[in-house]
Amino acid sequence: METTEAQVWTAKVYDANARFVSDLGADVVAWLAPQAGERILDLGCGDGALTAVIAATGAEVMGVDGSADFVAATQARGVRAEVMDGQALTFDGMFDAVFSNAALHWMTDAKAVIAGVHRALTPGGRFVAECGGHGNVASIVTALRALGDRHGIDAALADPWFFPSVDEYEGLLTAGGFVVDEIVLIPRPTRLPTGLAGWLETFRAPFFHAAGDKADDLLAEAEALLAPALREASGVWTADYVRLRFKARRV
Ligand code: BEZ
Repeated sequence: METTEAQVWTAKVYDANARFVSDLGADVVAWLAPQAGERILDLGCGDGALTAVIAATGAEVMGVDGSADFVAATQARGVRAEVMDGQALTFDGMFDAVFSNAALHWMTDAKAVIAGVHRALTPGGRFVAECGGHGNVASIVTALRALGDRHGIDAALADPWFFPSVDEYEGLLTAGGFVVDEIVLIPRPTRLPTGLAGWLETFRAPFFHAAGDKADDLLAEAEALLAPALREASGVWTADYVRLRFKARRV
């Protein structure tokens, strides 16, 4: 695991443990309905799997991500990408659409994200995205918070995400100068291909790093707490994902 309190992404670990994230992104790409020649920004492009799908439609797509490793993986797919903080986008009226899958919940300053997306779009431009919504991975968050309390680990490391409700995000979009065409919360139980351990390694390494040499014990405790809710008799783990998906237009 990484020796840092910040989330660090590597395309290799992501590919092994979290390929389902882009595999399950087809519906939100369908909501985007990219057209040939459109200029589209993929905000939080990850390793570029969906950026490449959008590029294949003939759209002129560009990815941004905070991780240099992810940006290199996106570029390796032949797609333009830059390292950029999604909470400090620097584009001005350059895009017909901004797309995002499974990234916005990492950007806790949602007002700054929405302001940057608004600036990046042309008037009438679309903002189409999916992220974790209210109640997302609630059992995992609750278990990590309980373990954090028990072992003196900061709650912020157990739960670093922003999982808004429909009302909260619709309010933020409207206040940020968007008209919301559709916004829904979608419960989506999600099978974890490498189990809870693989998921935690990919998405919550900083919490376990803070546990130091007790990390393996904490992982065993997390599995024991969560198995009754998330593990089938066959051993398959399924997490309680809830997606927030929306389509909005810049006024
Ligand atoms: C999600 O896509 O909902 C998610 C991913 C990683 C951590 C938490 C949530």
